[in-house]
Amino acid sequence: MVQPTRQIVLKRFIDEAPSEDDFEVVERELPDLRDGQFLVRNVLVSVDPGTRARLSGKPSYIPPLKLGDVVGAFSVGEIIESRHPDYAEGEIVSLADGWSEHVISKGRGFIRRITDRRLPLSAWLGVLGVSGMTAWFGLNRVAGLSEGQTVVVTSAAGAVGSAAGQIARLKGCRVIGVAGGPEKCGWLRDAAGFDHAVDYKNTDDVGKAVAEAAPDGVDILFDNVGNRMIDQVIPSMNLNGTIVVSGQIAAYNDDDPPGLMNTRAFITHRLKMQGLVVFDDLPNWSEAEKSMADSVVAGDIVYRDEISDGLESVPRAFAGLFRGENRGRRLARLRPDPFKAEADK
Ligand SMILES: NC(=O)c1ccc[n+]([C@@H]2O[C@H](COP(=O)([O-])OP(=O)(O)OC[C@H]3O[C@@H](n4cnc5c(N)ncnc54)[C@H](OP(=O)(O)O)[C@@H]3O)[C@@H](O)[C@H]2O)c1
Repeated sequence: MVQPTRQIVLKRFIDEAPSEDDFEVVERELPDLRDGQFLVRNVLVSVDPGTRARLSGKPSYIPPLKLGDVVGAFSVGEIIESRHPDYAEGEIVSLADGWSEHVISKGRGFIRRITDRRLPLSAWLGVLGVSGMTAWFGLNRVAGLSEGQTVVVTSAAGAVGSAAGQIARLKGCRVIGVAGGPEKCGWLRDAAGFDHAVDYKNTDDVGKAVAEAAPDGVDILFDNVGNRMIDQVIPSMNLNGTIVVSGQIAAYNDDDPPGLMNTRAFITHRLKMQGLVVFDDLPNWSEAEKSMADSVVAGDIVYRDEISDGLESVPRAFAGLFRGENRGRRLARLRPDPFKAEADK
């Protein structure tokens, strides 16, 4: 059966900060399923800062979109028709496709079955999804997190940052978050249990504020922001410290982002700096998902979702990420949650 759907496509290439007018909602018909395919009706789609890297028409670490392409995103949805031997109607999956009400999948690439029903589906796009996994593998695999370390996290009130800080806290580390504004910093201290939060928007010298919050120095910097932020923390790094390059949100809208200045400390303090692409760790996600889910269910890790209503809400939600408007993970709800509907019966 041909499936009518609605999708958000790229209307024009973006040079600076994204705006709602860069996108448009289009109606399309998805073709009949072929053997080996299944059709997903999305319940929630994600709004990710990293998507910005694909929207300028220029080469990046992922291939750029063409005008008229559906904008990439993660989603959770219900399989409503299947001609695939391994995926059945009624299963709930998370997959990487785009801002679209429906997706046809061949069951290849990034796809997760969601069977743990202890948490709302939104968690599988945030704390148990790409955001939480980036925090988990960035700290545990890349940085070799261990008890007693001092960890600084930037864009700390976001989905990745807040997960990273809490993973470190649970490991017995001292955790300092850097975030914009008193509300976010208050939430980090009061709800997420960070030891200290630096409000970089109301601090003249972020480097000094971090140094004061970390009198014994910093062992791990988990950075989501970019080189200017990293440069301010480098003078506080301890011998053999690690800088995890998770994201560079301050650079995504900048054609000519700044380089690093304080590189001498890499010699004197034997620092190392390493990035990650979270999908490299996909074979080990199940264990990490289970551990994170247990911590969330136990109340040891908290998270915030901001869920807007309908596909039309997505471009505005996306543009707001670059103005610091979001309080946690931004998602858009396209349909009611089928897990919840089942529980309410
Ligand atoms: N490596 C990977 O595999 C991987 C996977 C997923 C995500 N990531 C990266 O992880 C990072 C965090 O993702 P997220 O989904 O949790 O989003 P997020 O941190 O909530 O991103 C939005 C936040 O970034 C901050 N921000 C925006 N512009 C900024 C600027 N110019 N300078 C400093 N801060 C700025 C704002 O917070 P404030 O109000 O605090 O400024 C804003 O609320 C992103 O950079 C993303 O690309 C990496």
